[in-house]
Amino acid sequence: MSDPCSFAGSRCVTRHLNLVLRVDFQRRVLRGAAQLTLEALEDRFSALTLDSRDLQIVSVSANGQAARFTMGPEHSFKGTPLVITLPFDLSRGQHAVVEVTYETSPSASALQWLSPEQTAGKRQPYLFSQCQAHHCRSMVPCQDSPSVKHTYYAQVSVPKDLVAVMSAVRDGQEVDPQDNSRIIYRFRQPVPMPSYLIAIVVGALESREIGPRSRVWSEKEFVDKAAFEFSETETMLKTAEDLVGPYVWGQYDILVLPPSFPYGGMENPCLTFATPTLLAGDKSLSNVIAHEISHSWTGNLVTNKTWEHFWLNEGHTVYLERMIGRSLVSEQFRQFKAMGGWKDLQDSVNTFGADNVLTNLVPSLQDVDPDDAFSSVPYEKGFALLYHLEELLGGPEVFMGFVRSYIQRFAYGSVTTDEWKNYLFTYFKDQVDVLNKVDWNAWMFTPGMPPVKPQYDTTLADACIALSQRWIKAKDQDLSSFKESDVKTLSSHQLIEFLSLLLQEDALPLTHVKKMQEVYDLNAIMNSEIRFRWLRLCVRSRWEEAVPMALKMATEQGRMKYTRPLFRELSTYEKYRDEALQVFLAHRAAMHPVTAGLVAKDLKVDASKTTSL
Ligand code: BES
Ligand code: ZN
Repeated sequence: MSDPCSFAGSRCVTRHLNLVLRVDFQRRVLRGAAQLTLEALEDRFSALTLDSRDLQIVSVSANGQAARFTMGPEHSFKGTPLVITLPFDLSRGQHAVVEVTYETSPSASALQWLSPEQTAGKRQPYLFSQCQAHHCRSMVPCQDSPSVKHTYYAQVSVPKDLVAVMSAVRDGQEVDPQDNSRIIYRFRQPVPMPSYLIAIVVGALESREIGPRSRVWSEKEFVDKAAFEFSETETMLKTAEDLVGPYVWGQYDILVLPPSFPYGGMENPCLTFATPTLLAGDKSLSNVIAHEISHSWTGNLVTNKTWEHFWLNEGHTVYLERMIGRSLVSEQFRQFKAMGGWKDLQDSVNTFGADNVLTNLVPSLQDVDPDDAFSSVPYEKGFALLYHLEELLGGPEVFMGFVRSYIQRFAYGSVTTDEWKNYLFTYFKDQVDVLNKVDWNAWMFTPGMPPVKPQYDTTLADACIALSQRWIKAKDQDLSSFKESDVKTLSSHQLIEFLSLLLQEDALPLTHVKKMQEVYDLNAIMNSEIRFRWLRLCVRSRWEEAVPMALKMATEQGRMKYTRPLFRELSTYEKYRDEALQVFLAHRAAMHPVTAGLVAKDLKVDASKTTSL
């Protein structure tokens, strides 16, 4: 079993990483040393390959002796293999400490370096990382494969006005003995974890306690808002523990990033990263935190062995996230969210094409960049499979018994889909006949929508479906029947669903969206899940007034879930295609490297182009 996305091979494994880094904001580089404690998995072991990407390697040693190293050919997204020859042989089970001194590149794909102007405070620079899926290698030379798990310790030197936090437990700080204008922050992560969960942020950070094991971190401008928004954190943690067992990571903090953070949330251990778009608009019982909390078990404790098995991480996490919703709200609410998820899956299948192998639950990622493969498919096809199994095997309580047992069985390890399936058959050994009726090949290795469509309870969706149908069927002379009161009784979740339903249809006539604005005033809603759907709808109906608002949203925040569809929608509006391109090119240099790369691909802009002239 090998990982198509890593050069590291499986002849040795990393057991521990000791990181010593100096953060240089002037040069936008990290400089320092990575000491990897490696265990040989075979005899006469002396040739070792690590992943790296855009790293400058200064020296390599093993157990303190200089070691020879060479760089292999550079691969477009896998980076450059760092091939090390140990000055001795190890036998199976023996350990060695390999130290690599190195420097990152200012264009490291895991890192975004923000100037003071790009922060809320405007006075200090900011740095954050996003390693999932295969970007850790641009920050640390390592076995950058989720099949390898290790503990870590880190010492990070930063200018003394800044604070560093990592995906680990804070372990004190001291003035840098080599430079008293700097502070060294120390971190320890005693739970073995994959490299993609290594994370670092350096900025003018403050924090506030929000629970017995939780603080929120952000620039001071957002701490209070964040503390308010995430006040349910401890309740969700306890609910998750009731469902799946003890939380093993000690601390659960949330860090609110600057607007360019490319995801809604990232499950970095001890420190979930969250987009600031969660703070826009009214307080929402957001599913992002329930989702990232759930990853503490599915993903961080039980990890996909390669990115081809990513659905094991995300499908189970969405399943748990919705179980938390079931406990805290209702079963109807879970069913409502599940139905919304089926629609997201439909959208992804439409975008990729129903015969695209990237819509397989278990795709081959041979020569595929995981960032290009990313979509709702592993989340929602994964959830749909688990929900289907739940229905077949005896309902939510029975199936949660399996999920809990699966987590216990594979905790601290990495798993493939086969291992998951074998355990499913073992756990439900009395219902093997039921399991044998599942069309596994269609679910896992066939593109397009799943072979079975679950029937979800429509109680909460009915109002959304009815209202969207009224708009779809309305003739111009019917428009006067729409009233502000149509949406007054809808929750924000239902308003999102209403807009999603409209987005699945052909563009509404321009008269309709103008009327919708007149009666519902959706332009005034700042909740970003609502706003991004509404603006897409307006652009699709060719409402020129919405174009500046859509461009503003696409650039003022950088969550890819919003920015990519907004740019894509704008670029299909012939009259404004050029303007959308110009706006993208003007912002490109200040964007997150991964977001900039994917938007460029979406818009078919040349990778190196900086202006369209
Ligand atoms: N781990 C993912 C984010 C991710 C996936 C980053 C792949 C890089 C590569 C995270 O847990 C996630 O799924 N976030 C979602 C939250 C949503 C499903 C509630 C997001 O960002 O929208
Ligand atoms: Zn996730």
